[in-house]
Amino acid sequence: MSAALSDRPRRVTTHVLQEMKIRGEKIAMLTAYDYSIARILDRAGIDVLLVGDSASNVIAGYETTIPITLNEMIYYASSVVRAIERALVVVDLPFGSYQGNSKEALSSSIRIMKETGAHAVKLEGGREVVESVSRIISAGIPVMGHLGLTPQSIHKFGTYVVRAKEDAEAKKLVDDAHLLEEAGCFALVLEKIPATLGAKVAGELKIPVIGIGAGRNVDGQVLVLHDMLGITQDFSPRFLRRYHNLYQEITGAVTKYIDDVKNIEFPNEKEQY
Ligand code: KIV
Repeated sequence: MSAALSDRPRRVTTHVLQEMKIRGEKIAMLTAYDYSIARILDRAGIDVLLVGDSASNVIAGYETTIPITLNEMIYYASSVVRAIERALVVVDLPFGSYQGNSKEALSSSIRIMKETGAHAVKLEGGREVVESVSRIISAGIPVMGHLGLTPQSIHKFGTYVVRAKEDAEAKKLVDDAHLLEEAGCFALVLEKIPATLGAKVAGELKIPVIGIGAGRNVDGQVLVLHDMLGITQDFSPRFLRRYHNLYQEITGAVTKYIDDVKNIEFPNEKEQY
């Protein structure tokens, strides 16, 4: 192999994620919505970038993930894809782009793949989306499932509390997880469920199970970038670890800039032509 080729980072594929599960190496996944940040995350070594419909909250400022459109997701996803050399890029199918029927689900997935260059799509739900999952996979498009707290159904549940605490809901979740695996999903996200249930699903499934509030005994973790960097301030579920307080850092930098401009301390002699 030439030096140039061997220097290139090994691309993360769905097969690489499967191998990671087999050898017990945890998968690190974060959300990304734009070129500059995606470039930093990719170079830092993130395994999977999710262009999440959480963009509806953290980028567009909506209260729920429901308003974001397929066109908007395609815009964010193509910006992310242009930045990456290594990570696997997964794009959320937004609300209203797949629930109608499996034909709609397939045509939305095809648009994402053709117009963004992403590697996979993600959709929420169990039994009710299995037919769509099979149809998308039949077209050669990898699909990631999403069970537990499914924010696109917020108005059905009415609250963001922990899901599947009761036996009946936990059993349904386990059954749905198996159905999604049998339909061909390459991975599954489990959101805000008891840690014991997360561990049970990860133990039973062959595909990687990635948790967000599903405990430590799953195959990987995902967080919304704006939450883990502390850009958002008013969202503090127990599962969220804040690795930084960027809200404070940005406020400090911008306040200093405003002062410098007002006091004619910026630009200085060296910063002008
Ligand atoms: O949209 C998103 O960011 C997600 C994660 C919470 C998994 O679906």
